[in-house]
Amino acid sequence: MYSTAFIIFLELIVDDINLSNLNAIQKDEVIFSDDKVALVSGGTRGIGRGICEILKRAGATVVAGYASDEEQAKKFSRETNIEAIKWDVSNFNECEKVVKHIIDEYGTISILVNNAGITRDTTIKKMTVEQWQEVINVNLNSVFNMTKVSWDEMLKNKFGRIINISSVNGQAGQYGQVNYCAAKAGIIGMTKAIAQEGARYNITANTVAPGYVDTEMVAAVPQNVLDKIISTIPVGRLGHPEEIARAVAFLAREDSQFVTGSTISINGGHHMY
Ligand code: CAA
Repeated sequence: MYSTAFIIFLELIVDDINLSNLNAIQKDEVIFSDDKVALVSGGTRGIGRGICEILKRAGATVVAGYASDEEQAKKFSRETNIEAIKWDVSNFNECEKVVKHIIDEYGTISILVNNAGITRDTTIKKMTVEQWQEVINVNLNSVFNMTKVSWDEMLKNKFGRIINISSVNGQAGQYGQVNYCAAKAGIIGMTKAIAQEGARYNITANTVAPGYVDTEMVAAVPQNVLDKIISTIPVGRLGHPEEIARAVAFLAREDSQFVTGSTISINGGHHMY
């Protein structure tokens, strides 16, 4: 009755109950052929790193993007054997160059994960125009840039899996994040439009909306504020990057074509609707 892909997705979620099994995908079948090339922005740390690792373990060729931390990028490449490329996702020309490089070096681009994101949290009273624009450029305009420069290749292949990482805060709002919430909510609408344009060409576009996950970004929230937020999460803890990555791997599969324009919320019950 259910597709194999959906059953595997459910099995992976069930694995979460046993946290010692967080790397259970290792036991999973190879899902992707290595001619499936995935590009993950912000891929060397946090959720992005989890996504890179799971896609690689599932058989795809993976390339990660990063913005500034060279040391971390080198460490990531050493540990994972995944190439890390530095570029600015908010700069259209740099996005164009990097996708051309991927196609020249690896043959194509099949899976695009728009994960790169920043925060510049402060109340609207104190927020500067620069803080507003920086977050909109890096978190939202980047999704346009990367999708636009990958589109023709995906059309040519009649295959594309675009997965955009939003946030619970784009769904529910968050005090001190007017810029971030606007960008993350914008991603959800944009993804639905891309899904409509891509559907007939086997290009899917979906959003994954994580809640508070154990990453450097969340660790930067003042501890007293974070404790209060965690106390409102029904599951009672932060998420793990792997718990987000599994949904991305599911959406990236070839046999997930019928899942498009959706938003998968993974937030420990923090926001339900
Ligand atoms: N609801 C109501 N009032 C709140 C509030 C809330 N959620 N949070 C703070 N306030 C109040 C404070 O109590 C304070 O009130 P008083 O002046 O009466 O004491 C007032 O707002 C202003 O506080 P500050 O002077 O500390 O303002 P600030 O500008 O220095 O800092 C803040 C405010 C930046 C919002 C800080 O509270 C903060 O960092 N909050 C967390 C924001 C957050 O959750 N960011 C998520 C980052 S992780 C991420 O984004 C990943 C993801 O996708 C989930």
